[in-house]
Amino acid sequence: MDSFEFNKIAAAFLVTALVFIGIKELGNAIYSVEKPANSAYKIEGVVEKTTDMNLKIKKEEKLASITPFLASASVEAGAKVFKKCVACHSIDKGGVNKIGPALWGVVNRKVGGIEGFKYSAALKGYGKNWSFEELNGFLHKPMRYIKGTKMGFVGLKKNKDRANVIAYMNSKSDTPLPLK
Ligand code: HEC
Repeated sequence: MDSFEFNKIAAAFLVTALVFIGIKELGNAIYSVEKPANSAYKIEGVVEKTTDMNLKIKKEEKLASITPFLASASVEAGAKVFKKCVACHSIDKGGVNKIGPALWGVVNRKVGGIEGFKYSAALKGYGKNWSFEELNGFLHKPMRYIKGTKMGFVGLKKNKDRANVIAYMNSKSDTPLPLK
């Protein structure tokens, strides 16, 4: 074997080796696709949204019962809260309807129960009485609680404020109910 022959064989080996390595690298490049951090199918997103919605619904449903707050409510503090209502409501006995109906004796009264006041269809057809809890829900977010009401008031966020104003309205009646 002369050196030329040897070189040819060596070259053949080298080429084979290079081709082999080349194919392997190429294979890696084609097949080893990097795994994306997030799945392309946005199932997670959907689940998240549902949980969000559930949370919102839960929040909405979870308005605490007003009973424990009524137990320590203050009629005087309620009179102050009621200042937010006087533009539209009278509260004293014999008071007139203003933008909103007269509220003397409203606790336990039929919802939409004042003859001659032009209630919305929503209130007129509500079919319940103003229990403490109904007042609680309505005064929290009037337009959410009874859709279609024309009481244009944002509501009272604080449990305490609602309890106090309900206690105040309860006192403005011929037959106030016990608060506890
Ligand atoms: C911008 C005017 C406005 C303000 C402020 C307002 N209300 Fe009203 N309220 C109304 C109107 C109008 C209605 C009748 C709603 C309807 O017919 O849908 C109403 C209805 C009501 C009713 C139902 C009465 C019934 O006869 O069925 C209650 C209870 C009530 N309001 C309490 C309050 C309290 C408490 C506040 C203050 C925290 C308040 N409102 C603030 C306008 C107002």
